[in-house]
Amino acid sequence: MESTNFDTTAFRQALGSFATGVTIITTRDSKGEPLGLTVNSFNSVSLDPPLVLWSLAKSALSLPVFREAEHWAVHVLSSGQSELSTRFAMRGEDKFAGLDVDAGVGEVPLLKDCTARFQCKTAFQYDGGDHVIFVGEVVSFDRSDVAPLVFHGGKYAHATPRTEREGKPRRPYLGGSFNDDFLGYLLGRSHFKFYGRIKPLLKAEELSDEEFYVLSTLTLKHEMSAEDMDKAMRDVLDEAGHEALDSLCKRGYVSQKDEVFHLTDEGSRTAIRLITSAKAVESTVTERMGYEEGAVLKSLLNKLLDTLDPEAAEMWEYEPN
Ligand SMILES: Cc1cc2nc3c(=O)[nH]c(=O)nc-3n(C[C@H](O)[C@H](O)[C@H](O)COP(=O)(O)O)c2cc1C
Repeated sequence: MESTNFDTTAFRQALGSFATGVTIITTRDSKGEPLGLTVNSFNSVSLDPPLVLWSLAKSALSLPVFREAEHWAVHVLSSGQSELSTRFAMRGEDKFAGLDVDAGVGEVPLLKDCTARFQCKTAFQYDGGDHVIFVGEVVSFDRSDVAPLVFHGGKYAHATPRTEREGKPRRPYLGGSFNDDFLGYLLGRSHFKFYGRIKPLLKAEELSDEEFYVLSTLTLKHEMSAEDMDKAMRDVLDEAGHEALDSLCKRGYVSQKDEVFHLTDEGSRTAIRLITSAKAVESTVTERMGYEEGAVLKSLLNKLLDTLDPEAAEMWEYEPN
């Protein structure tokens, strides 16, 4: 086969535009030592007989072992397993150190908490340029509903199913107006609807929205200078924030010393009570929308906040002692 004069980087980049899942393929060597590597060239081949394939670089340290292996297992990683993926992409390291594994067909080590696992018997091996293509017959598999890890453009990504009505306005007659295609509308309405569930908790504690905001801000840092408080409240509460701070001081929830504000024990107890209840509200909402998508939503909102308010990210970098 002739080789072309492709720009290797550009070729890699173009291949990276094909979004894939991420797998770890494991086996054992002749001495019984576990070994494995991160692979995204995995693919299905045939349903009957059940066949899958993946390709292994001829430069990989694990090549001689896989060439001889009778069995291997493919683990489709879940969205929370990117660190495991990075660990198994290291060359030759002791990748299994500290990992709790099960024994699969042919004593192949099986990793836990994956989205799916396929235990395979080597069926064919083909030469594939600088890679060897392994085809395996699936002898056993299992799966879960946990969202898979995605790899796209050289980066890990989230897989979120699109809603059926995506792109279609909720009320077609509002097409073109400030409706559910407008970020401000979606954020605003979600905020009010979500916050509506928190408000009864505040009422029970006789706290205003502004007081709750200031109280929860102070729980993040334990103590804040007047300047930091100003920054945290800028464009969010402004004057109303200062009134709330005064009121919390009067109620004994916050105390001030040398221009530094901090929560009193009473303030901390109230804040913790409220935040625990508010987290329970969050759980009921994310349970309904799906925990995985709740996590994606938070990740995107954090990205939006970094875009709109880059200073805030710097402010919270400081670790409370
Ligand atoms: C997301 C991702 C996908 C990868 N896919 C493959 C692949 O399909 N085939 C391959 O040979 N290497 C692939 N690698 C690289 C190997 O995991 C890496 O070279 C590893 O160090 C090989 O281990 P070994 O040398 O100990 O055998 C991938 C790495 C990452 C991070």
